[in-house]
Amino acid sequence: MKTRKGIILAGGAGTRLYPTTHVVSKQLIPLYDKPMIYYPLATLMQGGMREILIISTPDHIDLYKTLLKDGSQWGVEIQYITQPSPDGLAQSFILGEEFIDESPSALILGDNFFYGNNLPSLLKEATDRREISSIFAYHVKDPSRYGIVNFDSNNNVLDIEEKPNKPRSNFAVTGLYFYDENAVRFAKELSPSERGELEITDLNKRYLKIKKLKVTILRSGFSWLDTGTHDSLLEASNFVSIIQNRQGLKIACLEQIALENQWISIKDIERQISSIGSNSYQEYLRSIIS
Ligand code: G1P
Repeated sequence: MKTRKGIILAGGAGTRLYPTTHVVSKQLIPLYDKPMIYYPLATLMQGGMREILIISTPDHIDLYKTLLKDGSQWGVEIQYITQPSPDGLAQSFILGEEFIDESPSALILGDNFFYGNNLPSLLKEATDRREISSIFAYHVKDPSRYGIVNFDSNNNVLDIEEKPNKPRSNFAVTGLYFYDENAVRFAKELSPSERGELEITDLNKRYLKIKKLKVTILRSGFSWLDTGTHDSLLEASNFVSIIQNRQGLKIACLEQIALENQWISIKDIERQISSIGSNSYQEYLRSIIS
């Protein structure tokens, strides 16, 4: 049985954020004390995925390679591919066809931040659910910015609409998608939308039509944070800082997740400790192995 593979789309130049973001790539900007892309990478690793594909623009892909390398320091295998132009989230599956190799897969957007008590078990369940694909919905106050799920009175999914002008619900589809091995084929069958993109919402609708889409609502115990504006980026950074400083536990510490998953050993972490400078991250790594 083929294991699920993970894809991170870190394509957005994030020009809404800073005029210079295209130089550094938005997902490399720190969210408090680590690069933004660590958070979605942590999410995939918590879901048990060890083979990971990073998709980014031709201008930025080398920056990701320099930062994340081949992933072996975290017991994962990272590959890289470019998306020549931003032609939609669903294009990830076409670009990743060879990497996916007819396996089930999961896509996470490089600027999406998930946090919650039993998030790891929720992710592992979605990873193990092979017969049906899974997406997650979260109540937001500004639904016209997102893909929106409409439910009937029995909480059955009626439909999904991409950035509706008149949203019929406040449940946004988050940027984390688990699909079966048909995702590549279905993505190839999509037509570009009016904005010229292969829409992930159309892929979700395809699964919905054949009754193979499970929508799980992430309720109040979960946080799904946005990093698309200056305020939301600052709020997300503050959120990480508050939780970490209160609990003394780091969110998205990749070494810790890899150790918990038994993908690396204490010796591997010791090696990393000596390779990074003396800072709070190094101190934290020391604390988790002592
Ligand atoms: C994309 C999807 C949308 C989804 C959102 C989650 O929007 O098209 O359905 O709700 O991600 O972040 P975009 O960020 O491309 O505007």
